[in-house]
Amino acid sequence: MMIIDNAKDYCAIKNNLTPFHLAQNILMVEPTYFNIEYAINPHMKSSNGCLNTINKHLAIKQWHQLKKVYIDLDYNVFCLPAISDLPDMVFCANQSFPYIDSKNTKKIALSHMYSEKRQKEVLYIRDFFKEQGYEVTALSSHKAPVLFESMGDALWVPNNHLIIGGYGFRTLREAYDRLSHATNCPIAVLELKNPKFYHLDTCLSILTGNVALYYPRAFTRDGIELLKSIFSHLIEVEQDEADSPYFACNAHCPDQKHVILQEGSVNTHETLVQNGFIPVEVDTSEFIKAGGSVFCMKLMFF
Ligand code: ARG
Repeated sequence: MMIIDNAKDYCAIKNNLTPFHLAQNILMVEPTYFNIEYAINPHMKSSNGCLNTINKHLAIKQWHQLKKVYIDLDYNVFCLPAISDLPDMVFCANQSFPYIDSKNTKKIALSHMYSEKRQKEVLYIRDFFKEQGYEVTALSSHKAPVLFESMGDALWVPNNHLIIGGYGFRTLREAYDRLSHATNCPIAVLELKNPKFYHLDTCLSILTGNVALYYPRAFTRDGIELLKSIFSHLIEVEQDEADSPYFACNAHCPDQKHVILQEGSVNTHETLVQNGFIPVEVDTSEFIKAGGSVFCMKLMFF
């Protein structure tokens, strides 16, 4: 078990990391019941304090367009039916963390979600993975629950067996002791400071083993130092594109080349091109009203 929380400790282990490949399958949850029925993050309400309203027809259209992008990039996309009364289940990055253990067994660690409103989602995702032959690891027990929101906060770094874990809003730091133990993988942990950037995937988008997009004001000074020690090129995203309605750091780069991101993030788009990436724009505006965009709307699994 290895938790790293500063640049110096990361530099001491970085040459010992083992190679690792990224997951290749995509899971999405149908948007049938997607809605905004409560506010559990600052994006879900408008400035007058009312819950945002979504255009369901448009949301469904946007979801299908995103699915098509993955299919066009040659990914296998698995779709789970939605469950009524679980309006956030479409954000399927959050309920489980797929991994391969040291004996090459496919496993998932289950989330213990911050909001009671979302906790049941985990059971449906668990059942899907059981059917896929995955073994299930519960990081939490009833007696000792520890908040953990999986791939909203815990992100793989391509090429290396390394996880970066955000904590502070949806995940507790101690969840990473358990995750590191289960996965036998070092985890670089970062405290999140800004409630608008409540998941690590809202303020850090890992593009390759060396390059990432980030929004510095979501992190502590030590966290930024740690990120700089991991990535030789950290691309800063300005507030206007990092925040809603663009959520540029919630982009997803599945193959170290294409970067799927919300349309209208003009500067981020340009910077990506300058750095040799291929931006693929999608419209996820209806989902951003609930506090999530591309990265949260899918789960990569092995
Ligand atoms: N409304 C959802 C929530 O607050 C949005 C989740 C977005 N997911 C993400 N990985 N950022 O839980």
